[in-house]
Amino acid sequence: MRAAVFASGGGSNFGALLARKAAGDLHIDFACVISNNSGAGALDRAKTAGIPTFHLPPTKCASEAEYCSKLFAILNDHAVDICILAGYMKKFPDALIAHYFGKIINIHPALLPAFGGKGHFGHHVHEAVIATGAKVSGITVHFVDNEYDHGPIILQQTIPVLDTDTAQSLADRVLKLEHQFFYVAIEALATGKLTISGRRVLWHD
Ligand code: GRF
Repeated sequence: MRAAVFASGGGSNFGALLARKAAGDLHIDFACVISNNSGAGALDRAKTAGIPTFHLPPTKCASEAEYCSKLFAILNDHAVDICILAGYMKKFPDALIAHYFGKIINIHPALLPAFGGKGHFGHHVHEAVIATGAKVSGITVHFVDNEYDHGPIILQQTIPVLDTDTAQSLADRVLKLEHQFFYVAIEALATGKLTISGRRVLWHD
């Protein structure tokens, strides 16, 4: 399986995936890394690893159609089978979702369906978790559909929310969990262990 990674920020999740591949735990090839942000750490990590990079901000395209056709061209040119959203802060275009549904994976730093949707990104997520008094948080890896943070859930892992937690301390622990488990869902998809049945994702041996 050849994967395109989409990332907007530091790219620590992408870094963790590179490490999993190097360790022999993740059997995919990284075909390219695409970012809307020229300063994304993920682009630097990709360049260091010799992976093709693309800076493609939707705002620099005349229309959604132009944005999509540029993305399709990159994905076709690099023979991409799956798309990994590892901190991609832009809405994934509907036309690509229609084409790649079941092959696009996102990671979210909370337990969906709570604390998801528009506005729930970065520190906002963890602030919302603490403000509600939730006693557990965690991560959700899910397939991407046309709504933010809504597609079928592949995997979740939890951690307790401590009385002493700040949004930052919770974010730090959740990110560690992301680095531990994101690859598990990707490896399962890449090795044909997942099927989608309605809104449920079934795991097979
Ligand atoms: C992660 O918390 C991920 O769950 C969210 O964006 C963040 C990306 O972090 N979607 P990084 O760029 O991988 O460090």
